[in-house]
Amino acid sequence: MATETLTKMTGEEIVALSKKHTLFEWSAQSKVDPIPVARAKGIYFWTPEGKRFIDFNSQLMCVNIGHGDERVIRAIQEQVAVLAYANPFMATEPRARLGAKLAQIAPGDIDVFFFTNGGAEANENAIKLARLVTGRHKILARYRSYHGATAGSIMLTGDPRRWASEPGIPGVVHVLDPYHGIERGWDTAEQSLAMLEEVIQLEGAHTIAGFFLETVTGTNGVLVPPDGYMEGVRELCTKHGILMICDEVMSGFGRTGEWFAIDHWHIVPDILTMAKGLTSAYVPLGAVGLRRPLAEHFKTNVFYGGLTYNSHPLACAAALATIRVYEEDKLIENARRMGAVMCALMSDLEKRHPSVGAARSIGLFGVMELVRNRETRQPMAPFNGTSEEMAALGRFFRDHGLYTFVRWNTFFTNPPLCVTENELREAFGIIDKGLEITDRAVA
Ligand SMILES: Cc1ncc(COP(=O)(O)O)c(C=O)c1O
Repeated sequence: MATETLTKMTGEEIVALSKKHTLFEWSAQSKVDPIPVARAKGIYFWTPEGKRFIDFNSQLMCVNIGHGDERVIRAIQEQVAVLAYANPFMATEPRARLGAKLAQIAPGDIDVFFFTNGGAEANENAIKLARLVTGRHKILARYRSYHGATAGSIMLTGDPRRWASEPGIPGVVHVLDPYHGIERGWDTAEQSLAMLEEVIQLEGAHTIAGFFLETVTGTNGVLVPPDGYMEGVRELCTKHGILMICDEVMSGFGRTGEWFAIDHWHIVPDILTMAKGLTSAYVPLGAVGLRRPLAEHFKTNVFYGGLTYNSHPLACAAALATIRVYEEDKLIENARRMGAVMCALMSDLEKRHPSVGAARSIGLFGVMELVRNRETRQPMAPFNGTSEEMAALGRFFRDHGLYTFVRWNTFFTNPPLCVTENELREAFGIIDKGLEITDRAVA
């Protein structure tokens, strides 16, 4: 019966019924045109009719180990057969083992974890933890960021997805990023840090509990911080008693070629949030990691937080199996090696296609920014908007079996970390042809 329900509907029927009875995110419902998905394996997924797509965005930058890994499937099946659920006041073996495993791979002395259902809830609880530990109220975050869609996380979010939720929770102050968009480019670390310190001074350091930042910014453009920035943020936070809170929901678990992106800078934040790659999305799970001295605060003080599905045994078992896959298949090393190949392929496109204004990547986390004019650097679509050419590029990718995120004037190159060189070349072959569309718009 289960197989029948999975296989009996056509793609068209699935889309029609989904549109009739379910809401799609971030969209006016009449505009959505979802791809019906029936099955997936490795870096590919298929529609019910058998059309194959290269998953060049790991779905939502989350299926890091690739689709359909038998080892994770088995671990989930074994766990569900023994103990699908125990309430969060209980202690289970998957919970115990996952806490201990994360303590091994998280940076420095981050070795205590609170488990959530996903990334937004991880950030939500990080806000709460930072306020409880410091006794301060304000939170700093950056404009070019996404931290989730729940009440607190959407206020941390700096990009336009925040606007409809305003006014939200009080006390969140946004600061500018080192990057100012394709036309204005980058500040140096010194300039950006000076601006940050000025905001801290003006807001009153003693009122600020924490500074949230995506270590490498994700949907707002794979922004790798300039040299010295992360070190400077760490110093400023320490100097002013502000907790440095790295959101690695997207950049964690090998995406950048390290377990966590912050490992590139050998820095230990005070709080680290994660989700997505933690289970590679086989089962929902997020976590907040705390440095040992912060966790000590809750030895005698109550942690006022809770979730029915905190430390869900099925999710913890899936995470343990997923982490084993990263280790057994050396996926973090592969992200580094294939990241170098991808970087070269992207630079090659940048040289040959006049519409490519910037190509950025770190590991297998990449983005290309398209422009109408290489001198003025006018983006191919405006901030928070689209254009005929970007829409046509998206359609081209879809028609040619390449799935990726096309957003504003950018598109992403974020394959699962198990990708091979041949698979990368296949995907970049499609991208190469697609860019002829945007090249025609270049002045
Ligand atoms: C950096 C970052 N933080 C938080 C979130 C929110 O995670 P979730 O959608 O699991 O709530 C996302 C989701 O894309 C993200 O990219």
